[in-house]
Amino acid sequence: MKVGIYPGSFDPVTLGHMDIIERSRSMFDVLIVGVLQNIAKQSLFTIDERVDMLKELTKNMEQVKIMSFTGLLVDFARKNNAQFIVRGLRSVTDFEYELQMAQGNRHLAPELDTLFLAAETKHAFVSSSAVKEIATYGGEVAGLVPDAILDKIYEKLGRGVNP
Ligand code: PNS
Repeated sequence: MKVGIYPGSFDPVTLGHMDIIERSRSMFDVLIVGVLQNIAKQSLFTIDERVDMLKELTKNMEQVKIMSFTGLLVDFARKNNAQFIVRGLRSVTDFEYELQMAQGNRHLAPELDTLFLAAETKHAFVSSSAVKEIATYGGEVAGLVPDAILDKIYEKLGRGVNP
């Protein structure tokens, strides 16, 4: 069984994340989307909310499983017999951080490889932090996140420029 893990905070999930899930899922028998429960970092959405949103958005994607994890990614990967980590790359800035993380993970678990997918150009500036900042100050986040979660973001942060 070829098992891949796509890890992240997904606070909230963006169209960039959805694109990586959609493009990478066919590479594996099972693609686990691993949602990090980071006790050291305050999140906008609770871990249950993030997991539920992703479950709803991927309910028709057969090989995709949504799970939460805490602690080290390599431990989560080993527990689930994954051989690959998937990450999206938007920019050179991402690359520096991602390379370090991939090398750190290989140091900890030499049997694990990280695969990088280049983000679509239209998603190059899309990040969960940007979405939160734009929505906080009343900007429009439609087109940056799945339509199905727009209301959830507006519920937490206000309605932005939408009527
Ligand atoms: O979407 P994000 O927030 O950029 O995802 C970062 C994530 C979850 C992939 C990363 O922070 C992570 O793997 N955290 C788990 C802790 C860990 O394994 N750290 C060692 C990395 S070498």
